[in-house]
Amino acid sequence: MKIAVLGGTGDMGSAIAGRLSRSHGVIIGSRDPEKAKAAASKMAGASGDSYEGASSLCEAAILAVPYEAMGVASSLAEPLAGKLVVSVVNPLRFEGGALRYGLETGSAAEQLARMLPDSGVATAFNGIPFGMLHGEDELHADVLVASTSKEAFEQAASLVRSVPSLKPLYAGPIVEAQAVERMTPLLLNLARWNRSPALTTRFVPMS
Ligand SMILES: NC(=O)c1ccc[n+]([C@@H]2O[C@H](COP(=O)([O-])OP(=O)(O)OC[C@H]3O[C@@H](n4cnc5c(N)ncnc54)[C@H](OP(=O)(O)O)[C@@H]3O)[C@@H](O)[C@H]2O)c1
Repeated sequence: MKIAVLGGTGDMGSAIAGRLSRSHGVIIGSRDPEKAKAAASKMAGASGDSYEGASSLCEAAILAVPYEAMGVASSLAEPLAGKLVVSVVNPLRFEGGALRYGLETGSAAEQLARMLPDSGVATAFNGIPFGMLHGEDELHADVLVASTSKEAFEQAASLVRSVPSLKPLYAGPIVEAQAVERMTPLLLNLARWNRSPALTTRFVPMS
């Protein structure tokens, strides 16, 4: 599958693009196509393009830009129509010595779904620190996925499964995306306050 990673020059985007490039064709999308090409040259079989170009060429896209930059997606509604778009975006703010969720209501993924009314939208990978995606280590993490439709969930779940040892878990319709995104400041605070290496999610059934 051809997957555009919009923001694929950044920490999270390049890490996820690197993992996905092992089993997919990856197109790095950037405001600067030359920067995208330079980032793509470090991954086998990857190419680089503008946000618009990458969105037109892909079959599915991942949005990996800071929350404050998400508005860029509204200009991509046409090339992304009919395609799955996965948001990894976490709205965060730092307040009172802690990272906090950045929105009063709703979620980044719901905002994205409103910008892309003709796309299937899912939130996923939000709680996987980029450092874990770099390198060869198996991840053994559960990836919570909330989506605008069951079809979008199935497509996003298949993308998650294409990274060996990642397991998708259905977290509900897109209205549940806030619960998924809220896990990230919790994980970051837990790691900092407990002097732990970066943490991610793995749910353990009671035996
Ligand atoms: N870092 C993590 O471990 C992690 C884990 C899970 C989820 N996330 C989420 O992933 C997203 C990206 O995080 P990051 O740490 O990778 O951020 P980052 O490195 O600061 O930025 C990612 C990319 O976004 C693009 N960008 C920045 N400002 C932009 C703007 N105004 N308009 C359009 N594009 C812009 C840049 O690409 P160009 O300059 O090439 O255009 C940049 O390389 C965030 O929403 C974060 O919450 C991060």
